Order: sequence, then structure tokens, then C-alpha cells
Amino acid sequence: MLHPFVLAINSPHDTGVRQDAALSARLAYALMCLTLSWGILVSTGWVHRMTGRQATRNSHMVLATLTLAFGLIHVWSFLFLTDVHFTIVKLTIPMVNGGLFRHATGIVGYELMIAIAVSVGFQRYFSYRRWLFLHRFAYPAVALLVVHSFLGAMANGHLEVLWLAGLTFFVPMAVMAVLRFMPSRVLMGAGLVEEDA
Ligand code: HEM
Repeated sequence: MLHPFVLAINSPHDTGVRQDAALSARLAYALMCLTLSWGILVSTGWVHRMTGRQATRNSHMVLATLTLAFGLIHVWSFLFLTDVHFTIVKLTIPMVNGGLFRHATGIVGYELMIAIAVSVGFQRYFSYRRWLFLHRFAYPAVALLVVHSFLGAMANGHLEVLWLAGLTFFVPMAVMAVLRFMPSRVLMGAGLVEEDA
């Protein structure tokens, strides 16, 4: 006879919840990479001539909202599992009750993203420089969530299938983030941008 724990792990209910958690996680990951890449285009103005500033900014906000929404579905899914016991406390406080490092990276990254999104609503109460300083926490948040996604997919045994798609979203984002912080004379030297006449 099978041990009851083995039965619980294989229950169709938990399998479904895990698939749901993984699907929303993958969507959140892809949208997160697109949000950051598009955010860089908003701040540098590299596509403004094509779309106009307002449209670029609005699409950045749509992508960010979708990332948070799919991220929330992913996180909340774990409350419905019966083979492991996740609680709101375990899903919101890193390393609590024997919490794992790979989960802590997800928790801190996601909470940073929420703080950044909330601060957008309170922009008028900050000087622009302070607000921008806060908004740039998006970079460490994304870094933490990339690490979380990598370790999470590895723990689920999905890395073999996901690594190529994961890199496809990651590499352009990383290249843009590097270019964004390069001094403009280096970009001009490389012929990537032209000086305004
Ligand atoms: C409170 C925040 C979060 C918690 C507690 C959390 C927890 C988890 C857990 C338990 C797993 C299953 C594997 C494992 O045991 O590590 C996982 C996998 C994963 N998570 Fe999260 N997560 C959080 C936020 C996020 C966010 C915001 C994203 C994306 C932007 C994300 C992306 C992923 C991905 C891509 C996987 C792998 C899915 C797969 O195997 O296909 N997570 N996470």
C-alpha cells in the first residue's frame, strides 16, 4: 500500500494547483522582463519618436500591472496546496518558520515590486529624484525574481524545458539594462546613438 504522503503528492488536485502556479509564474516572468525592457525605453526615450512618450509610459504600466497580477495568482496558488502547508505568513515573510532561501528571493522581489507600484500613485508627494531612486529598486527586484525563477524551475524539475525561453526574455532585458547605464559618449563611440544636430 502506498504511503498517504505519496498519495497526497500525486493527488490530481495538487497537480492542477501546481500547474496553475507554474503557468502564472511563467507569464509573470515573461511580463516582468518585458516591463523592465519597456521601462528602459520610457526613461531613455529610445522609442518616443515612434510611439510618443505617453503611449510608451502607458504600455509600461499595463505590463507592470499584468506582472503583478500573474505574480499574485502564482503566489496565492500555494495556499490551495494540500501536500505542503503554505500560510499567508510563510508567503509574505522571508525565511520564517524554516522558510527556504529560494522562496525568500521571490517574496522580497515581489514585495519590492508592490512598493514600487504603490509609490507611482504617491509620486506627487516625492521630489522626482527621490521617486526615481525608489523606482530604481525595480532592478534589484527583477534580479531577485530572476534568481527565484531559476531556482524555482530547478526545484520543480522544469529547468530543462524552460531555460531557453527564460534566456530569450532575460538576455535582451540585460543588454538594455547595461546599455541604459553606459555613459552616452561610449554609446556614441560605438555608433549606437547619434548626437542631436
Ligand atoms: C511571494 C512571492 C513568491 C513566492 C512565495 C513564490 C514561491 C514559489 C514556489 C513555492 C515555487 C515552486 C518551486 C519551489 O519550491 O521553489 C515557485 C516557482 C517559480 N516562481 Fe515563484 N514565488 C513568488 C513570486 C514569484 C514571482 C513574482 C515570479 C515571477 C515574476 C515567480 C516566478 C516563478 C517561476 C518562473 C517559478 C518556476 C515555475 C516552473 O517550475 O515552471 N515567483 N515560486
